[in-house]
Amino acid sequence: MRKQIAAANWKMNLTLQKGEELLDDIIALPHELKADQQAIFAVPFPYLAMAQQKVHGKKNVFIAAQNCYNKKSGAYTGETSVEMLLSLDISYVVLGHSERREYFNESNQFLAEKVNICLENKIHPIFCCGEALNVREANGQNDFVAKQLEESLFHLSAEQIQNVVIAYEPIWAIGTGKTATSDQAQEIHAFIRSQFATKYGAAVANNISILYGGSVKGSNAKELFSQPDVDGGLVGGAALVASEFVAIINALK
Ligand code: PGA
Repeated sequence: MRKQIAAANWKMNLTLQKGEELLDDIIALPHELKADQQAIFAVPFPYLAMAQQKVHGKKNVFIAAQNCYNKKSGAYTGETSVEMLLSLDISYVVLGHSERREYFNESNQFLAEKVNICLENKIHPIFCCGEALNVREANGQNDFVAKQLEESLFHLSAEQIQNVVIAYEPIWAIGTGKTATSDQAQEIHAFIRSQFATKYGAAVANNISILYGGSVKGSNAKELFSQPDVDGGLVGGAALVASEFVAIINALK
């Protein structure tokens, strides 16, 4: 079933104590998740166990890792396997964030391998895609995103693809305060869904959640999420403020 999702991406922020406080504050604020709505917190690796404990028993609330490695186990110092995440009951992993693509040279092919190992282990990838400003200015965003989807996801079966959440995040909107307009978001989300429809059929495409990311705030979330193909958001900066993130959760349709 297609879910409406408010996903927090803490990135490399907060200490353990500040992270605990933030989760406590969010849990304490009034918010309601309907059956088809979820809140997900992508926290740094050292906080996964703490965060998992905090949300234990909370309906429709999940903890995500911000990355994982493409190998099962072995001599890969500093990396984290899906088996390790599974041992903490983690069910989501953010993959292919533009910061990882840019600073850690993650390619579409490498991401395809990470997607595979997640799905083989029943972990849902939150797969990020999105173009840089120069690509948008040349009106090349559709081709750019289509290639990211094709090279990292289109080898999957129709059953597998429905376990992937897509996050469209235009790089020019991430951390810049410059949000895509709701029309811009709807236009490319509809395009992304049409790519899945062409490859897997309309019924499958309609089951896939496509989140928008890039300067989502409490004040613009409702307008963005009201678009028919925007199924929630992946939120960085505003997810570090309890009242902001709760407003974003409450803006889900
Ligand atoms: P932002 O980050 O909300 O701070 O723009 C979004 C993201 O990078 O996931």
